[in-house]
Amino acid sequence: MSAGMEKDLAGESSGLPRHIAVIMDGNGRWARRRGMPRSAGHSAGADSFRRAARYCQKLGIDYLTVYAFSTENWKRPKEEVDSILALLEKYLRQALRDMEKEKIRICIFGDLSPFRPELRRMCQQCMDRSSVYTGAQVNICLNYGGRDEIVRAAEKWAAEGCPPLTEDVFGGYMWGGRIPDPDLLIRPGGEKRISNFLLWQAAYAELYFSDVLWPDFDEAEFDKAIAAYRSRERRYGDVGEGI
Ligand code: FPP
Repeated sequence: MSAGMEKDLAGESSGLPRHIAVIMDGNGRWARRRGMPRSAGHSAGADSFRRAARYCQKLGIDYLTVYAFSTENWKRPKEEVDSILALLEKYLRQALRDMEKEKIRICIFGDLSPFRPELRRMCQQCMDRSSVYTGAQVNICLNYGGRDEIVRAAEKWAAEGCPPLTEDVFGGYMWGGRIPDPDLLIRPGGEKRISNFLLWQAAYAELYFSDVLWPDFDEAEFDKAIAAYRSRERRYGDVGEGI
């Protein structure tokens, strides 16, 4: 924890987001600036993700959801897709090995059917074995798309015979079930768009955009994002206090 955030949290921790979502963007540019292949950027991005998961756990953030591989990412060159999937396998293997030390619950959101059986098996094992931990939860979105998730939710609802529908009931059909919606959605890498991420769940998320590339998005950058979040007034469509 950086000195500034530690001081800040000492007095009051209630202003922390309960759920942070991240679009891990900028890996390719990070590598290009160093004359390295894009796969090296994704590898640095995977390290940044590990650091983020530990930091969020340390801060007491209950949920961290990251966009690791979108339904659109299949359009990238096969070599790049393979390198991202290899990094995921490496992460899952390490997570299985270090589970008792890390104590992070791991969930995977997305359609895993196109992946090779070994990757699917590791995803399932990570989810099953880490389900006993009740502290921090990390959600990895894999072959995930927000529109796809909503269509699948509608299909599941229809398959159950169209039970009476409310927003809360429908939200329960999303990959994460009834976990709280993200309070803060961070997009590093300079672009200012949502890119089909958590379209249903991010309805009231505070958005934080940063020019810092994801591999460089360290603890101090998280502190800045959280400080920006804490300075905002969340109104959920109501009038503001100063009005
Ligand atoms: C976007 O940056 C990043 C991705 C499409 C892949 C993200 C994957 C990882 C960080 C590695 C694996 C993840 C885990 C959870 C172990 P970009 O390639 O579009 O960057 P650019 O805009 O600079 O080209």
